[in-house]
Parts: sequence; C-alpha cells; structure tokens
Amino acid sequence: MTETWEFKRHRRLRSSASIRAMVRENELKMDDFIYPLFIVEGEGIKNEVPSMPGVYQISLDYLKKEAEELLALGIRGVMLFGVPAEKDEQGSGAFIESGIVQKATRLIKKETPELLVVADTCLCEYTSHGHCGVIHNHDVDNDESLKLLAETAVSQAEAGADIIAPSNMMDGFVAVIRQALNEAGYNNIPIMSYAVKYASAFYGPFRDAADSTPQFGDRKTYQMDPANRREALREAGSDVEEGADFLIVKPAMSFLDIVRDVRNHFDTPVVAYNVSGEYSMVKAAAMNGWVDEKALVLEKLTAMKRAGADVIISYFAKDVAKWL
Ligand code: PBG
Repeated sequence: MTETWEFKRHRRLRSSASIRAMVRENELKMDDFIYPLFIVEGEGIKNEVPSMPGVYQISLDYLKKEAEELLALGIRGVMLFGVPAEKDEQGSGAFIESGIVQKATRLIKKETPELLVVADTCLCEYTSHGHCGVIHNHDVDNDESLKLLAETAVSQAEAGADIIAPSNMMDGFVAVIRQALNEAGYNNIPIMSYAVKYASAFYGPFRDAADSTPQFGDRKTYQMDPANRREALREAGSDVEEGADFLIVKPAMSFLDIVRDVRNHFDTPVVAYNVSGEYSMVKAAAMNGWVDEKALVLEKLTAMKRAGADVIISYFAKDVAKWL
C-alpha cells in the first residue's frame, strides 16, 4: 500500500535499534544519580533493611569500602542518613560534632574526597518522638525547630558536606539555613531543598531503615497533601526566593506531573527522589518473578528524566550502574 495523505507513518523512526537510539529524547547517565546511605553507630554492622532488599544500614568501618565501590560504579554523590545510638527530645544527634552523619562525612571527605556528600538535614532520625522538629503542645513548633535545623546544617558543613539537603518541611528552613551557612563562611555550599515533599505512604520502608517513624500522630501538618498541585508551586517558589539551588520533588513516581510543573516554572535544577516504597514495590514484584526488574526500573527512571528531572536520588543507583 502506498502512503496517502490520510495517515502518518510514525513507525519509520522505530524501525531499528539504531534509528531508535538516534531519535531517543531522554537518557539516563550515572552523573545524575545520588545514592542514599544509612549509617549506623557501632562496629561491624551491615544489616539488610528487611523491607528494602539490597539496602543496608552500615557502620563507619564499612563506609570506606562502600564509598570506593560507589565511585568505581561511576556514582558521584551519596545522601547520608544517620541512625544514632541514642535519641532525645531535641534530636541533638543531628547537630553535635560527634554526630553519626558528621563522622561519616569526615570519613568520606578524608578517604574519597571526590564523592559528593549530600547531607540530609532533618531531626526525625534523632528525636525520641520521631518528628522532624521540636514538639510543643503536641505539634511541631516551626520557629523553634528552625534554630536547630540551622545548627544541624552548619555542623554538617563543618564536617565537610558538599551539599545541604533540608528535608524537614518547616516554613522558612531555606532562608534560615542559607543565612546560617553564610554567617559561618559557607556561602559556597549549595542547598538542595526538599521543596515539594508530600506526606506519603511511600516513605514506609525508609522509616524502618532510618528508625524514624513518628511515635504519635503523622507528618501531615508539615508535609504536603498528595491531592495538591498548585501548592507545589507555592512551596517551590518560596524556596527559590529564599535561596534554594536545587528543588527536590518527593516522592517521584506518583508525582511526575509535579516534577514537570516545577521544571516548567523554575530554572533551578530539579531533583526527583525515587523513594523507599517505590524501590520496595519493584523489588518485591521482581523477587516474585512478576516483572522484568531491569526493564521496569530503567523505564521508570527514564520517565523521571522525561518529566524534567536533572538529578535522581535512588536506591537503584548501584543496579543502574551495573545495567548501563
Ligand atoms: C526525613 C526523610 C524522609 C525521607 C527522606 N528524608 C522520611 C520521612 O519524611 O518520613 C524518605 C525517603 C524515602 O522514603 O526513601 N524527613
């Protein structure tokens, strides 16, 4: 049949692997990945997180080897989460000099300085109640929490963190952290703000890994309602005004419309956080032999790029490095 004006032949550009590669619009590259690490106090600890097969809590003595392995795989950055030995009302473990993230940061910067350390700036792993700030009258006190978060960010910078990533969702956290960093002489350290962070059920496995489940209530007075779209632009807009250098959208998979909105409205690099529950679901299905893990993971991570993400934070980063 000859071609007529009545229809177009889109299959022409799909007819071989070579032509498909030539016209491909989005591609994953290892430069764009950040791999989360859970660092635990103690020695000789390498505990697999039950709800996250292939993800471990490791003690400091395993960290050098881990960092070298990541660099060898072409991964340029890690996001550090700390699991402290003790917790208190204020979350002191987040901002003391001997904090677990501070120690891990110093070690990485000494042994493998080219590996970027992105420090998650939050209190929930360190507070006895598991909330991301300090509690007054059964709610998280925004402005009191800001002081401790600024202190946390500065202590992370002092330890050598390359990027500060505040995930606490207090109002004004970017402004306060920017000012504190500048006053301490760290005006060159970028802030990767969890600008758009939803109160999501997809964080469940992370809370096992980081031991950060709130002991009462939930995070809905500070994290966003998953039903909202315009609110994401208000959150991202204020963070840009306050000095954010990167904007994180989190979770990623169920929020790709938001990744696209943020990409369209701001020039700032956009980061998609492919969170724990998104990882666990795929792993569970793959372990049952129900899906082709490699194909599925590469498809969904590429979808994050297509939606507009420049950077992807993912527990799959090591797998991806092996597949690409
Ligand atoms: C801390 C924080 C959370 C995640 C990253 N930083 C959890 C939360 O808000 O409970 C979740 C990451 C993931 O699920 O992979 N505030």
